[in-house]
Amino acid sequence: MLPQSSLLILAPLLAALPVHAFYTKNSPVLQLNQKTYGSLIADSNYTSVVEFYAPWCGHCQNLKPAYEKAAQNLKGLAKVAAVNCDEDENKPFCGQMGVKGFPTIKIVTPSKKAGKPRVEDYQGARSAKGIVDAVVDRIPNHVKRVTDKDLDQWLEQNGERPKALLFTEKGTTTPLIRALAIDFLGAIDVAQVRNKESASVQRFGVSKFPTLVVLPGSDGESKLYEGELKKQPIADFLKQFASPNPDATGQPASPAAKSKKTKSSKSSKGAPKVPVVPDDEETVPAAEATPEVKPASVPITPPIPSLATPESLESSCLSPKSNTCVLALLPALAEPDAVLPLTATEALASLSEVVHKHARRGTNLFPVYGVPAENSASHTLRTSLGLGSVDAVEIIALNARRGWFRRYANAEDFGLAPVEGWIDAIRFGEGAKEKLPEGVVVDAPVEAAKSETQVDPEDEAKEEPEHDEL
Ligand SMILES: *[C@@H]1O[C@H](CO)[C@@H](O)[C@H](O)[C@H]1NC(C)=O
Repeated sequence: MLPQSSLLILAPLLAALPVHAFYTKNSPVLQLNQKTYGSLIADSNYTSVVEFYAPWCGHCQNLKPAYEKAAQNLKGLAKVAAVNCDEDENKPFCGQMGVKGFPTIKIVTPSKKAGKPRVEDYQGARSAKGIVDAVVDRIPNHVKRVTDKDLDQWLEQNGERPKALLFTEKGTTTPLIRALAIDFLGAIDVAQVRNKESASVQRFGVSKFPTLVVLPGSDGESKLYEGELKKQPIADFLKQFASPNPDATGQPASPAAKSKKTKSSKSSKGAPKVPVVPDDEETVPAAEATPEVKPASVPITPPIPSLATPESLESSCLSPKSNTCVLALLPALAEPDAVLPLTATEALASLSEVVHKHARRGTNLFPVYGVPAENSASHTLRTSLGLGSVDAVEIIALNARRGWFRRYANAEDFGLAPVEGWIDAIRFGEGAKEKLPEGVVVDAPVEAAKSETQVDPEDEAKEEPEHDEL
């Protein structure tokens, strides 16, 4: 076929396809996956805001202009990022982050423990101002406030490390000076002194406010910064005295930085205008006409129900009358609010997807439950059935009435396809079952004794319609 004619045929089709990424390469919003989340967000000294979205979700599309504006306004002060949860490689990660609807916005704030940030759901207005205010509030403050009394002590700390002193009329630390302190954390100590500390003001010959003075480590003489009171020129000035940290500036270098020319033709503010010592209201450029979008989310597959107590597990699945149940026995967590390991999250996501598929098609499926490790009956069940360690997720199917169980054995892969295949095999009565040991069923049923490890075809034939009744 001639290339031309094939183009003619394809052109209308291609035009209909959403060929553009939701956030393009030129967007100020940083695109993340699980790996880059770890290196760029969790390990950062900066506060970040991360949106978990799906490109098809209407509320995400509504949020996009406000979110990109927030990213513009926070440039150099915090990281603004997004994870596309519609991409297969990101799905387990979105599950692990507890994403239950789109968009979900989380603010990630560094804690004292490196790599273990505090993660909060942002529930405020879906406007640039709402987001920017919440993030600015959480920018870590490494700026020491010194007075005439403790100036000497501060100057003597950390030996020859260079020091930057901001003389200001304000009692608050601005986002900009906090961001600079983060850029040079461990490399340059940053402090601020109020104008009323007259001994210090005189000592450094400061005559106007704000003024930034830098004391280069060993060879004493202090230097006055006389440039523009903006982040980039100040950071460039400070670079003469020490190297900034790897993730300095709040955003990693990206093509976005260079393509500002095209951006600024559309919007008058290319870079954020954050004065060194603004009033609180000035900290954040006003979010003029951004329409306030009411927080609302599109549900993704609902999580499977949980059997949290021994009683609920017994009455749902372990009584002599219980029919087939599928259980995900969840691993024990080191700390109460630790996130589940990836395998467990993936197992839950796959089970939820299978349940969801059946619900959509209107076909019945036996009940599927998650059993948290804190449910003591979960531990008993693992021991009785000879399952693996409590550190790993286990999926089992069991029928207390008929006295059999099956274990999902593919511990390497809890993806949708193998989990669904395993469940279908049970639905169709394929594959071997094992006998439930004595004592698992509460008030052991009479039939349990009769069941064998081998499949009884007659039993199966009777069993199949039963699943569709449940
Ligand atoms: C965070 O700050 C520490 C100093 O406390 C520094 O060594 C480290 O490189 C910084 N991390 C990043 C990612 O910049």
